Amino acid sequence: MIETTTRYSFNPLTGTEVPLPETLDDKIAIDSFLEKHPGKKVVVVQGLGFVGAVMSIVCANALTEDYAVIGVDLANEANYWKIKSINEGSFPIVASDPKIETYYQQSRHKGNLLATYDAYAYSKADVIIVDINLDVAKDSNEMNDLAGYEVDLSPFKKAMQAIGTHCNEEVLILVETTVPPGTCQKVVKPIIEESLSSRGLSTEKYKLGHSYERVMPGPNYVDSIQNFYRVFAGIDDKSAVATEKFLRTIISTEKYPLTRLGNTNATEMAKVLENSFRAMNIAFMVEWTRFAEEAGVNIYEVVKAIRMRPTHKNIMLPGMGVGGYCLTKDPLLASWSKQKLFEGAHLTQSEKGVTINDKMPVYAFEYLRKNIEDLNDKKVLLLGVSYRQDVGDTRYTPVEIFYNCLERAEANIVLHDPHIPYWEEKKLKVAQDHKHLLKEQPDIIVISTGHSDYKSDSFIKELLEMEKTFIYDTIGIYTDIQLEKLLTKHQVKVLGRGDM
Ligand SMILES: NC(=O)c1ccc[n+]([C@@H]2O[C@H](COP(=O)([O-])OP(=O)(O)OC[C@H]3O[C@@H](n4cnc5c(N)ncnc54)[C@H](O)[C@@H]3O)[C@@H](O)[C@H]2O)c1
Repeated sequence: MIETTTRYSFNPLTGTEVPLPETLDDKIAIDSFLEKHPGKKVVVVQGLGFVGAVMSIVCANALTEDYAVIGVDLANEANYWKIKSINEGSFPIVASDPKIETYYQQSRHKGNLLATYDAYAYSKADVIIVDINLDVAKDSNEMNDLAGYEVDLSPFKKAMQAIGTHCNEEVLILVETTVPPGTCQKVVKPIIEESLSSRGLSTEKYKLGHSYERVMPGPNYVDSIQNFYRVFAGIDDKSAVATEKFLRTIISTEKYPLTRLGNTNATEMAKVLENSFRAMNIAFMVEWTRFAEEAGVNIYEVVKAIRMRPTHKNIMLPGMGVGGYCLTKDPLLASWSKQKLFEGAHLTQSEKGVTINDKMPVYAFEYLRKNIEDLNDKKVLLLGVSYRQDVGDTRYTPVEIFYNCLERAEANIVLHDPHIPYWEEKKLKVAQDHKHLLKEQPDIIVISTGHSDYKSDSFIKELLEMEKTFIYDTIGIYTDIQLEKLLTKHQVKVLGRGDM
């Protein structure tokens, strides 16, 4: 007897498991979906993560075209649930932007969005948008500095091969994934052309463009794609023209004009430079935050004063650390490209910036320990595990390193986050209802993510109803008036405020 073991994909939003499909053949579903949309142009979005899932509903609600949209993801344990959710009526992204649900429901109503795992979808595409991940593996942890890192292009190349194996010869491939500069020219183009040639197809007609997302998960998630400036380029003129024509159908380009750059190396560089600038800006503030603490200065007050000048508006504020998928890796993607795709030297400042930022949560922990030496068995309530306020995303959250430090100090840790029911990376359940957690009177409350809920007047009121405790604000979310109130009852420390 042959034993078969069913494999499952775990949906972290519902806490349920869905069995993986038995074969990767989903042709019948794709064909019958397209039969319902005769004559419509077909847009296929590769990757249904934080960017691709939202991009697919933006395309399904395009401004000047009525597209049939197919989202493709992988039928594996980590990702299949996204496909299933989209097809069964619940969107796989939780965010505070109401437009997400509206757009998703509109696409359900029109029936113009399908999710699948079958690469056959690429054969039907007029446009393929690449929104997959491209990861950097870092050789470091909270105990050690960044010793090295590696960019493994093989999953990305495999994804390009899947497109090349199936796409038609006139397709427009639009890469939105953040890639090392040089990737479209030196990696994507040869793969697509080799695949087309091996199928006896022309390599003269396809178009390859690059345009990067500035997706801002949170209250303006959809607008950050549809109502925002975009930079684009093509590997040749016809590719740039086709890319621009497509972008005009989904983005409000009247209000937010597009910027065309000379070639795809330039757009790829623009994306990683932009994120490296932000990462460096934060790393720079880390040492000034420490100086402020030593000098008895309130760094928030200082930054606010400096930001009055138009030339210094974007100076950053300190915090628990830098998280999320982009700022933690993009400077390294750039440095890797310089070394491996252009045979240059490291981008040393950018690498150093990442190293400094990766250590921020350790510093935030040390600051806590300065105030409370013995954390053993202390009940610590962490308010927020997401890397960013009002968003349900725990990838590379600095709270993870902070949590690890607390765990090593043998603290008794309790987690709360209104947007995260389950912390995938730590395999931990996260409480959603803060009321009973506050009633349980923790010894220490750490504001670890700046969610709006934690700064509301009703939340402050609940904090004031507690017995005296220690509140540690690592984000600086409280106003001076709120702090004044909290200090009447509790001991409060704010990271970066040397004057408290
Ligand atoms: N999250 C952001 O805020 C943000 C903002 C701007 C740009 N970006 C960039 O956009 C890209 C995507 O980021 P994300 O946050 O959506 O990542 P993500 O990890 O949430 O999603 C990527 C998805 O691609 C899927 N995928 C991987 N290989 C695939 C393949 N061969 N075929 C089909 N699907 C495949 C994965 O399963 C996953 O669901 C990255 O390059 C990222 O740097 C992200």
